[in-house]
Parts: sequence; structure tokens; C-alpha cells
Amino acid sequence: MNDSTLPADHPFLTGDELLFAALDSMGAEAVAEEAAALGEAIRWHDHRYYVLDEPRVADGFYDRLFRRLQALEEAHPEVCAADSPTQRVGGTVVASLPTVEHVAPMLSLASGADETKLREFDERLRRSLQVDEEPPPEVGYVAEPKFDGLSIEIVYVEGRFDRGVTRGNGVIGEDVSANVKTIASLPLRLHVSSRPAPAMLAVRGEVLLPLAGFQALNRGRVEQQLETYANPRNAAAGAIRQLDSSVAASRPLDAFFYEVLASAGAELPETHWERLDWLREWGLKVSGRRRRCDAIEDAIAYHADMDLARDELPWEIDGVVIKVDNVAIQEQLGWRSRTPRWAYAYKFAPREEVTRIDEIALQVGRTGIIAPVALLAPVEVGGVTISRASLHNYDQIRAKDIRPGDTVRVHRAGDVIPYVVERVDDRLEAERSPPFEMPDACPVCGSPVERSGAYFVCTGGIVCAAQINGVIEHYASRHALDIEGLGTKTVRQLTESSLVESVADLYRLRAEDLLPLDLFGDLKASKLVEGIAASKQTTLGRFIYGLGIRHVGQHVAEVLSRHFGDIQALISADEDELVAIHEVGPEVTRSVREFFAESRNRDVVEELLALGVSLQGPADAPTGSGDDRSGAIFSGEKFVLTGGLESMSRTEMSALLESLGARVTSSVSGKTDYVVVGDNPGSKARKAAQLGVATLSEPGLWELLESRGYER
Ligand code: IVH
Repeated sequence: MNDSTLPADHPFLTGDELLFAALDSMGAEAVAEEAAALGEAIRWHDHRYYVLDEPRVADGFYDRLFRRLQALEEAHPEVCAADSPTQRVGGTVVASLPTVEHVAPMLSLASGADETKLREFDERLRRSLQVDEEPPPEVGYVAEPKFDGLSIEIVYVEGRFDRGVTRGNGVIGEDVSANVKTIASLPLRLHVSSRPAPAMLAVRGEVLLPLAGFQALNRGRVEQQLETYANPRNAAAGAIRQLDSSVAASRPLDAFFYEVLASAGAELPETHWERLDWLREWGLKVSGRRRRCDAIEDAIAYHADMDLARDELPWEIDGVVIKVDNVAIQEQLGWRSRTPRWAYAYKFAPREEVTRIDEIALQVGRTGIIAPVALLAPVEVGGVTISRASLHNYDQIRAKDIRPGDTVRVHRAGDVIPYVVERVDDRLEAERSPPFEMPDACPVCGSPVERSGAYFVCTGGIVCAAQINGVIEHYASRHALDIEGLGTKTVRQLTESSLVESVADLYRLRAEDLLPLDLFGDLKASKLVEGIAASKQTTLGRFIYGLGIRHVGQHVAEVLSRHFGDIQALISADEDELVAIHEVGPEVTRSVREFFAESRNRDVVEELLALGVSLQGPADAPTGSGDDRSGAIFSGEKFVLTGGLESMSRTEMSALLESLGARVTSSVSGKTDYVVVGDNPGSKARKAAQLGVATLSEPGLWELLESRGYER
């Protein structure tokens, strides 16, 4: 095994230990020893990756450790500890969530979004400490982010994770241990390298779903026609309160800790600041942005700083919490009925506002998907004026019953596109606009609109100005007309400069037209014009594929080319003839018919032919790059597969995707296009969500393949 990825200071595994002896040749003791070493190593890497954000090894290396531990535990279940890293993956299903009493009450915080209220809190507190001194002495504070998530109690007994309990009514909560254990940054064993673990430690923290994970989750839900979550907090809470822990495992939850609720068998330090240091040393995630404040002025400055930093944070915070640092003083100050006198939540202006929808506009994307967008009466949300918000899709608009003229609640967080959360409108039905309907015709080109799963799609393709860039890129792509030099940026320049308004315009370009454009010098301009001219000699199959007819991928285009041998025959083919062709189903038939029924599409074809595009029929036509028959429907898009698939093995699926032009890699990065998530997925699903990479379920993958013209 190649151990070159091992970090120099890796504490647990050396290359020798990674030889991974054959399992059946190992004695029970050797298995137990190796499982323990692997468990330690994985815990160490988890901490570096999820808590410190400083991974030391490539994902592939980590996955090998993980799979080896899984294999050992499968063969020898007796070595599998309840807190083994493999037990985080979820899958436990319970009938109900038992209720549990908290070790100490989980109460609430006095809060406000007003600076004077914070100053009053400070003054009140100092006066009650030293009534006779004037002015009262300063107290030291610790200011920290107020995480907008779900409050949780985690109890460790003898350093081992014992349970995770929701806040509930503050005294009794629900035992959500199986779900909480899926949180990758949460240690299942406390680290004891700095100091021993206490006999019992109960900590309070917040479970969060990072914004990227939230967006990816909602994107997936839109595709599956499920209702979206209103905010990351609800999505986190929804996962933590599930009976089936695989739901939590599929969401990249995180958790930060900010209080010791109770402890036994350890003398904790006297200040909150140091207590947080101890929690961090025990391996718990603690905010690195907390700040010591000598006086309330510093806390006010901290609030202003965090308000500015808020948009750059990967998760939502809704304010800052200011706490008296000295624990003895905290105790002296004590509690009101439900809130401590020593802490205050100084909130930010909310990121949600109520406004009116003036209009529901339709935006046609470059792939033809028509997205409804809410045009709003402008409203300031957290310092930014917004006048547009996403409505996700038609089904969500109907489910939430949102219509033009309605008053709605909108949400903006980080750099995420603002979205409409819900309708908050109490007008009578008669006073409202009629329910929103998607149009039958594309608002840009007037072509018919077709429904495809959750989406409405313009069928205009080749004549739709909104899709022109995508259309040209596809027309020029390797398996279509194969014109070199027509990448995304170049195409955008050509269309933005109005030199190209349809594919036919490509054949009218002269090198001198291109020279004024930024991206072109003499050489590049003449090369592109030559490349375009060379593409005139093409095959019928490539040409049909290049037209970008929905559901007509490269393979189907070849089938049509072989059957008809001539473009005019295809144009005039009727439904019966098309549907009778082996490998041509009703969907393809319908889209081919719709495409050629549109006179503007036929005009473009005629124009291309008139400009000299010459189509060789299949008999004498070489099929080009040899892999044409496999039907390349991806052009190098990067896939990662994780978890078990139902329809075929992962290896077979990789082979299929690769035969269709995709690249299948083993680790997820920002460059990955899709992560296909099967059963019991590993860390890759979580990483995808963290990076905001699109994830596909297995049915979702098939849908994608079919939408690109692949036929099973
Ligand atoms: S301290 C008794 N610190 O805010 C004091 N709470 O509105 C216990 N929260 O229910 C809470 N970040 O869920 C504290 N750094 C932080 C916090 C925090 C978020 C939540 C917590 C609490 C709510 C109070």
C-alpha cells in the first residue's frame, strides 16, 4: 500500500500497520488490536477534519481506514464498540424518542436587539454586585457568537458519549443519541491528552446545519418535489428529532459547545473562558471567534464586528451572547425564574422581513428551466435591500399558496439567494389574485413549455435567446459539431457582443469581426473561423445531436441518423414511424415531433444547410472518435459515487458513467459536479453537502441520465 499520504506527525498508524493482513489469517487478539488502532486513527482524523478544519490526509486514505475498520467489525462484531467511528453512520430506527431529565435545567437567555438594553443589563449587574461603589466596578465578560440552531445537552460518562438530549421544556428533553452520534465533529470519546476526562461531564451546545448543506438539501428536495425547509435551524431540528438516524447522517450537521451544565469528578477552572478552553481540549468544538471583553464597550464593538462577519460565516448566527467570565460572580448574581442574571443575548437585526410580492416573474435559465422569481416591494433585510427572492419552483408556490400581491416573509442569510419562506397574508380569497399558473409558452421565445419532474422547461432550445449560450456550447461540443475554441467564456463574448444570435450566425463570422473582442488576437480569431468552417463537413448523427433536441442524446441521434439517413426524412417523419424505431420511445418521439413542428426550428436547420453545413449519411460516414456509439451525454462532468446502489454495483455504474463521457473520481472536491448517494453513504455525502456539491439519489441519477437522452 502506498503510504506517502501519511503525515509525518501522525500519531497512530505507520505504513507497516497499513499492510491490512488478510482477515481470515488473523487471530482475535490481532483483530482487536488493529480495530482499536484504526478507531484511534479515525477519531484523530475526524477531529482534524471536522473540528480543526485541518485535514492531514486525502479522503481516499481516510476511506481506506474506515472501510478496513468496517470489515474488521463485520467479521468480528465483538470488537465493535458502541462509540466506534463506524457507529456514526446512522441507520438505527426507534419507535419513539424516550424522554430524559436534564442533568441541570437548560434555561433561556434574556435577549434584545437594542444597545441600550445591553447597557442596562451591564449596569444592573454591576450595581447588584457592588452597591456602595460609585461608579460600580467593571466586570470581565466573554462575548461569543449566538448560534442559530438547536440547543442540545450532551453527557459524557467516564469520557465516553452517553447521551444527547434536546432541550425540550428545559427540564426534560428527548433522547436523540442515535441522531446526535452522526454529527461528525462531535467526539464520542473525550480527548485525554491534556487532562483526564471527568467522571461525568454534561455540556450544552448548539446543533447547526451549515448554509451550504442547507442549500444542497433544499435543492435536492426541490428536485424530489418535497417541501423545502424554511431555514437551516428547522432542517437541523428536523434531522435531530427523527426516529431514523440515517436522516441525520445524510445532513452535514455540526455542533458548537458553549456551557458546562454540570460535571463530577473534576475541578473545573474558575472562568468561563478557561472552561471553554477545557472543552476544546477535550475535543469539543468551541467557537474560535469568542472574545474576552473588559467592559461592555468591548462587547458592543464585538457585536458590530460579528454583524459584519456574519455574511462570511458558513452557518447562521443570530446575535452574540455576553457572559460574565468569572464563575463565582455568575453564582453570586444567580438566576431569575428562567434566565441567568449574568448573561445576555444581544441579537442582530433579523434576517427575515415581511414584504409584498408585486409580481411573480419567470426567469429562463440557460438549460431552458423556467424558474418563477418573486419581485418584491424592496425591503431591507439585515442591512441589504432585496427586491427579488427565489420561490424554488411551481409546486412550492402552490403548496404555500403564494400569489402576486400577497404579503410574505422573506429570508436572507450569508450569500445565499434570498427566498420566500411563507405567506403571511390575511386577506380574503376574493381580494387576492388568482392562483399562480405556469405559462404554456416560454416568456422569452414563445415556444411550448413542457413539464419535466419538478421543473417546467422551454422546448425552444435552438431559438430561445435565454438558452443561446448553452445551445451554442452544445452545438460546438466534441460529440456534436466539434468546433474547437468555443468554450463558455468565448461563447458568452460572442453572444453579448451580438455577433452571434443563433447557431447559424457562427457560419457568418469573419476573423475581422472577432478582433475587437477581448478574448481574441489574430491567431485565435482565424483559428476559430477555420474551426467553424471545418465543422461544415459533418455527419447526420452529429448534426441531429447538435440540435439539442430534448431526450435526444448522442446514441439516439445515431439511431435516428441510421434509420432516416437524411435530415429531411427526419423532419417529416410522423409519430408512427418514429415510435416504431427500436430504441426510440414515446418521449423521444414527442420531443422530436415538437421540435420539428416548430417552424422556427426548421428555419434554423434550413439556414444551416444553406450556409454550407453538409451532412454525410450514416452509410459512408465514419463515426468520428470511435466512442460515439456509447452516446457521450456528459462532457467530462465529475461524479463521485458513495454508498450501495440498487440497480447495479458501484463499479458497474462507474463504468456506465464513464462510457457516457463522465469522469468518476473517488474523492469529493469543489470541482465535483455530482455526488451520487446510495445506501449507507460514507463521509463523501457529508462532504458534498458541506461544499455545496449537488447530490443525487439513485433514482435522481437515472432521471438525470434520461433527461440527457440516455435510454435504459
Ligand atoms: S448560553 C443559561 N451561549 O440561544 C445560558 N446560548 O436564546 C445558556 N445559544 O437556548 C445559553 N449560542 O440555544 C448560550 N453561545 C451561546 C449560544 C446560546 C446559541 C442559544 C441557546 C439558547 C438560546 C437562548
